[in-house]
Amino acid sequence: MNETDKQNINKKNIDFFSKNLNYQNNINQIDTYKILYNEITEIIKGSDLLLDVGHGGSFDYDTTKVNKIVGLDLDEMIEKNSIPKNVKLEIGSALKIPEKLNNFDTILFVMLIHHLVGKNVNENIDNLNRCIRQSKKALSKNGRLIIVESCVPKWFYNIEKVVFKPTSYLINKFMKHPPAFQFTKEIISDCLIRNGFKNINVKKVKQGKFILQYGIKFPTILTPVETIIFSANI
Ligand SMILES: C[S@@+](CC[C@H](N)C(=O)[O-])C[C@H]1O[C@@H](n2cnc3c(N)ncnc32)[C@H](O)[C@@H]1O
Repeated sequence: MNETDKQNINKKNIDFFSKNLNYQNNINQIDTYKILYNEITEIIKGSDLLLDVGHGGSFDYDTTKVNKIVGLDLDEMIEKNSIPKNVKLEIGSALKIPEKLNNFDTILFVMLIHHLVGKNVNENIDNLNRCIRQSKKALSKNGRLIIVESCVPKWFYNIEKVVFKPTSYLINKFMKHPPAFQFTKEIISDCLIRNGFKNINVKKVKQGKFILQYGIKFPTILTPVETIIFSANI
C-alpha cells in the first residue's frame, strides 16, 4: 500500500472513531461489550504498566485496576480532560509503535486487528504479523500480549478473502466506517506461535444479544463472528 492509501485508511479511522460519543456509548451499553469489560478487567488487573493500542477513547475495562496506562492510537480520540488520571495518551500506529514506548508488562489490542487493512488480503496478513512483531518490541521480559478480537469461522473467511477488494473499495467510497477484515482464531494463534510467543491461551467469550458490526448495533445471532481473547507471553 502506498503512503497516500495508508494515510487515507488512517484518516477514515480517525474520522470515524475520534471523539465518537455514539461509539463510546454503544461500548458502554451493549451487552456483549459489558461482558467484555468484566473479562478484560479480570485479565489485566494487577498490571503495572499497560499499553492499550487502538484504545479509541473507550477503554473497555476498569482502568483503576492497573497502575499506569498508555493509550496509543492514530489520534488522541478522546478529550484529554475526560480520561482517568492514570492514563496518558500517545499518537502513533500499531504498525510502527514509537521506540520510546517500551517495557510494558501488558499490551492490549481490543478490536484493533480487523482495522489494520491493506490493499489486499496479503497486505492484511502482513499487517497482522507486523503489529504482533511490534508488540514484542514494546513488551518487557516475560510481558504479556492480550488480543481481544472479533474472529470469523473458516467458511466465512474464505468468502471474505474473495470479496475483500471490491467491498473495501465500496466501503471506502460510501461508508463513514473504515473497511475491516476479520481473521479466523487459528490464523491469529499461528501468527503468535510463528513470532515466538509462548503460553498461548485462546478463550471464546460469551456474546450478548447485540454486537457492533461496522459500527452498527446488530443482533449477534445474525452474524458468524466469535469474540475471542488471546493471551500470550514473550
Ligand atoms: C473498533 S475501535 C476499538 C476501540 C477500543 N479498543 C474498543 O474496543 O472499544 C478500533 C480502533 O483502532 C484504531 N486503529 C486503527 N488503525 C490503527 C493503527 N494502525 N494504529 C493504532 N490504532 C489504530 C482506530 O483508530 C480505533 O480507535
